Amino acid sequence: MTGPFQVVAHRGNSSVAPQNTLAAFEAAWRAGADSIELDVQLTADGEVVVIHDDSLDATTDGSGRLDALPLADVRAVDAGSWFAPAYAGQRVPTFAEVVDFLVTHPGIDLLLEVKGDWGPDDVRKVTEPVLRAGLTDRVIGQSFWPSTVASLQKVAPDLRRGLLVAETSEDLLAVCAELGVMTCNPAGTVLLAQPGLVAELHDAGLEVMVWTLNEPEQWALALEIGVDAVITDRPDRLRGWLAGR
Ligand code: G3P
Ligand code: CA
Repeated sequence: MTGPFQVVAHRGNSSVAPQNTLAAFEAAWRAGADSIELDVQLTADGEVVVIHDDSLDATTDGSGRLDALPLADVRAVDAGSWFAPAYAGQRVPTFAEVVDFLVTHPGIDLLLEVKGDWGPDDVRKVTEPVLRAGLTDRVIGQSFWPSTVASLQKVAPDLRRGLLVAETSEDLLAVCAELGVMTCNPAGTVLLAQPGLVAELHDAGLEVMVWTLNEPEQWALALEIGVDAVITDRPDRLRGWLAGR
């Protein structure tokens, strides 16, 4: 491990509030998470919104692809009722709201996942607000798309960045070096298949943030192999489990 162990709230505290909403981010902050992980997508008119899927269907009362809907239509849907009636009225957040949230909630950082292949002009839509708000030290940008990580490297070289990894790959260390990432963030299944990977990544100077682990047995294994962070839907329970050890 290269620093203190971190609890990262996956899509906010998504086991108690609707994922990727301000309510879930507030719940993550109250749970004592070190960071919030969230996902961003672009609307048809090029605005950045916070949602995991490329359509509204699964997590709102609306439907349709994000890239076919303008921001006004995305903002009109309800992103909370599907989870529980108490969350009626939650909206699909804009990235500007996330920046405001960070400014007003010191003590919690952001693991920002950019979904899809974004060029430099689109990536600037998230990096510039972060830099302008003085949040450079509190944000890590990450993506499964190496091209998007390369855009992050180009437009905001001082912002920490990470590569998300869903499958084992022989050239992973070379790809990480090429992209100049500070974190390599594999699925738990990748670490199970390659038990020596954490040590290899640490030797290369990288931190390791593993996703998405929700059970105590998984947390115990992750700590044992020395990961730097666990991304979880249950940050409150992980925080309590850590305190009880
Ligand atoms: O941050 C890691 C994790 O969120 C990646 O998977 O599908 O939940 O975005 P997904
Ligand atoms: Ca994600």
